[in-house]
Amino acid sequence: MNPTVDTSVPSPADLETMCIELSRGAADVVAQARRDELSVSTKSTATDLVTEVDRRSEAWLLETLYRRRPDDAVLAEESAARPGRSGVRWILDPIDGTVNFVLGLPQYAVSVAVEVDGEVAAGAVCNPVSGELFSACQDGPARLGGATLHGPRAVALERAVVGTGFSYDAAMRERQMGVAAPLLPRIGDLRRLGSAALDLCFLAAGRLDAYYEAGLHPWDHAAGGLIAERAGCAVSGLRGNAAGSLMYAAAGRDLAPAFFAELAALDADRVSRPLDSAYRPSDPPS
Ligand code: IPD
Repeated sequence: MNPTVDTSVPSPADLETMCIELSRGAADVVAQARRDELSVSTKSTATDLVTEVDRRSEAWLLETLYRRRPDDAVLAEESAARPGRSGVRWILDPIDGTVNFVLGLPQYAVSVAVEVDGEVAAGAVCNPVSGELFSACQDGPARLGGATLHGPRAVALERAVVGTGFSYDAAMRERQMGVAAPLLPRIGDLRRLGSAALDLCFLAAGRLDAYYEAGLHPWDHAAGGLIAERAGCAVSGLRGNAAGSLMYAAAGRDLAPAFFAELAALDADRVSRPLDSAYRPSDPPS
């Protein structure tokens, strides 16, 4: 039997170590490929890009995982889901922030998360340009390299610097702007940095005070969401829903009640097309 093949379910701390190794390894693949001529194609819309480097990074992740953990399931941004039978599922984004990557804006990352029995147990997010590596496991601290992260400062909503992102779908972007425009005068400022995974890590590191976005996919938020949570942030959907594709909102615990209430008042979770079964357009506003 190949000694590197592991069929047991590792501890959360060991899974975090694997997420760190995988995200750093794929970030090296991305960094090395950066100077190659990029082949860029579009996905869902003309603005939704995928590069040869996304595919190369994902192929490296899939091959490495398959060698080490062949019985695990995988959900990855650029390929079909792989079923498993171990209760462990890896959630991979080979480049989160692909548009930034194509433009040469140094705000993109490889995101690797792992679920055990449907619950995110560990995650890591690595920026190939800065080399910053954020990580956490479900029973440990959020970390940036060796430093423990404690989330954002305590700040009032009117001073809060809030990160967000927009869909690739033009009609949805218009609805998202219908939320962002009235929100802007009620907060300190807005940032659209271009990588949801890094936005959530930046929240964990106190570089943002809050974050929200509708329409995210699991690979955008699985690792970053756990890292924000383990840094002490509240991570939620609105109106009692869990954080997910309708709304992924996160903030420091002091700010969260006012921030989430403001988002609910603006119907920030009603801008999506029906992306998941929790979407009920007939829900009355709360
Ligand atoms: C995108 C980024 C962006 C967010 C989009 C995501 P991608 O991921 O995370 O910040 O606003 O919703 O789709 O396409 O670069 O992997």
